[in-house]
Amino acid sequence: MVLEVSGLRYRVGNREVLRSVDLVVHAGQSVAISGPSGCGKSTLLMCCLGLVKPHAGGVVVCAGRMDKLSGRRLLRHRRESVGMVFQAGELLPELAPLENVAIAGLLAGVPRAEAFTRAEELLTELGVPTDGAETGSLSGGERQRVAVARALVNRPALLLADEPTGALDSAARETVADLLYALPERWHCGLVVVTHDPAVAARAQRRFLLTDGSLTSAPTSEPVGTGAAS
Ligand SMILES: Nc1ncnc2c1ncn2[C@@H]1O[C@H](COP(=O)(O)OP(=O)(O)OP(=O)(O)O)[C@@H](O)[C@H]1O
Ligand SMILES: [Mg+2]
Repeated sequence: MVLEVSGLRYRVGNREVLRSVDLVVHAGQSVAISGPSGCGKSTLLMCCLGLVKPHAGGVVVCAGRMDKLSGRRLLRHRRESVGMVFQAGELLPELAPLENVAIAGLLAGVPRAEAFTRAEELLTELGVPTDGAETGSLSGGERQRVAVARALVNRPALLLADEPTGALDSAARETVADLLYALPERWHCGLVVVTHDPAVAARAQRRFLLTDGSLTSAPTSEPVGTGAAS
């Protein structure tokens, strides 16, 4: 398995944001997590990255304890095992898309030529122009795909995406969702998507709601987003 969250608890002041969260994700699986604003979805992803330390429970990513590792060992394990899709604003707009992607590889110690080769292959595969235009001049959908490429350049076993389609129109949203949900099979990675969008959540193999600090299963068979005008 690529991710095992067990009995996770996290408090902010007196409030238990995460009360008891359990989640197992295997390679090749996709999971969507939804829930009201402020319920703790991003906090849960931060715990998976080892950026937030839970008050109880554990997070194992590819046999590494994200809640216990610290310093360089945590950094190294995160870079080797986890990709995080941040929203487009996390990219450096003045760099070319190729540089934005390659830099994540360089930071992880991938040799320069290899990092740029991987970046070019990923962007080409994802249909993003690599002719040197600044990332800031790309469309929102193109930037989102650059963010996905950057999360993948180190070939992570676990891919986390926090609201990856939040700022996109419906066409770009479909492109990014198509791409993300193809990844578990193509890359044999685990995928966790946090989303407010029911149509995006519906495409995951398993769907969960985060409410009152724990995950509950959401139905997976209900068709969402097709003729559901109300
Ligand atoms: N470092 C922190 N300091 C203070 N409060 C925090 C901190 N981290 C999280 N919180 C609080 O914990 C709660 C959960 O935040 P979180 O960002 O995880 O919610 P979310 O489910 O991702 O919400 P959204 O859907 O709006 O992104 C919020 O009430 C937030 O204010
Ligand atoms: Mg959030």
